[in-house]
Amino acid sequence: MSEVPSPAEAATSAEIPAPRIQAVRTAEHSALAELPWHLPLSDWPEDLLGGLPRGISRHIVRYVEIGDEVLAIKETENRQALREFDILGVLENLDVPTVAARAYVTDRRSASGEALPGALITAYLDFSLPYRALFSRDLAQDTGGRLVDALAVLLARLHLVGFYWGDVSLSNTLFRRDADAYAAYVVDAETGELHDQLSDGQRQMDLRIARTNIAGDFLDLQAAGLIDPAIDPLAAGQRLCESYEGLWTELTRVEEFSVNERWRIDERIRRLNDLGFDLGELTVTTDLDGVSLLVEPKVVEPNHHSRRLLRLTGIGANENQARTMLNDLDSYRSAPEFAESAEATGEDSAELGEAEAARKWLEEVYKPLIQAIPEHLTHKLEPGQIFYEFVEHRRVMSRARQRDIPTMEAIAYFIVDYLANLPDESRYVDSKQF
Ligand SMILES: Nc1ncnc2c1ncn2[C@@H]1O[C@H](COP(=O)(O)OP(=O)(O)OP(=O)(O)O)[C@@H](O)[C@H]1O
Ligand SMILES: [Mg+2]
Repeated sequence: MSEVPSPAEAATSAEIPAPRIQAVRTAEHSALAELPWHLPLSDWPEDLLGGLPRGISRHIVRYVEIGDEVLAIKETENRQALREFDILGVLENLDVPTVAARAYVTDRRSASGEALPGALITAYLDFSLPYRALFSRDLAQDTGGRLVDALAVLLARLHLVGFYWGDVSLSNTLFRRDADAYAAYVVDAETGELHDQLSDGQRQMDLRIARTNIAGDFLDLQAAGLIDPAIDPLAAGQRLCESYEGLWTELTRVEEFSVNERWRIDERIRRLNDLGFDLGELTVTTDLDGVSLLVEPKVVEPNHHSRRLLRLTGIGANENQARTMLNDLDSYRSAPEFAESAEATGEDSAELGEAEAARKWLEEVYKPLIQAIPEHLTHKLEPGQIFYEFVEHRRVMSRARQRDIPTMEAIAYFIVDYLANLPDESRYVDSKQF
């Protein structure tokens, strides 16, 4: 028998002072108030943890199911809990990929009146994976390099909004699959600082920290036997710096063109789009002699493809997944059957053609696939990733059989031969991670 009082007993016990709970949502506030805050997180009863494995990290993190959601609770000092709650909120408002802060708890006391640390509560980031999980289950080529590249994009996005992270590492990041790449999210913002703009020195400092931490992350992977011992841990940190510098230069560089080379501005915009960014604002200044133009991006916005896909189809997807879908939509649109039917309905403008194609593609290609996924397999991958993996699976199958595979047939093979065999990733907590 457990000596630990149940949450209900704890809640009714008059001697235990209630902690201070600040929650974003009222409904969550009352559910959170029911939890046994008078106990250290490490002593919380198993039945609260919804069957999710316990983890042990520097701070103790536990996962609790409330309604149909999972919340991650991290025990940390009162001041830190509040600070990280605030920082995560600001980052979310700035549209930077992070875990969403839901609440913080302070003024906790045990039944005997001793002070306990505070807690930060975030929404479990569905379909996210810690980097170690990707090595223990993913045999894809160059997983390490892809994770590092995703982290470089995240770091550039943080720096663009003036955020100095102070503890950049693979272990402070969560990863979601994004077509054949990954999308990175900040999970630990405890050391961060928000400025109007970062100096080069601050950016370089973050890169130095990243280089060291990433080497450490790779050493950990080697110690756990998850990667080849011949891999140089320092090379991964170096790759982050190169990947980041290349992107940062493209996002911020001031270029000088001659006045009759305006086309080069279009080239710059196209390159940014390819990297997944839109140019929101640009300043063009002519020099005193009126001979050359100085071109400087002022506002660059991420998710070029995700936003275009959302506008056309209403589908929310990660950037590279969206790129795959837009490519599929383009080839659907250029198929002769579609061009004929567009002609028959008198489509004359390219814009209209695109909108019409998107509607049809959604009904005839995307929805049949997503709706065909049996309920019990919807936890395997996000819909955007399902689409990407389906396109790849169909391509490999067509090549092997040397013929086009009709959509419904390809969907059936994809579900039975591929999707059903994948592990569930919607809520993944790796007990070995900690
Ligand atoms: N909202 C969340 N969604 C999914 N996983 C989460 C969430 N919050 C925390 N985690 C998991 O808990 C781990 C530890 O969180 P965090 O980095 O904030 O604590 P820490 O004490 O600094 O841990 P570490 O020393 O391992 O970096 C994360 O790497 C992540 O795997
Ligand atoms: Mg951490």
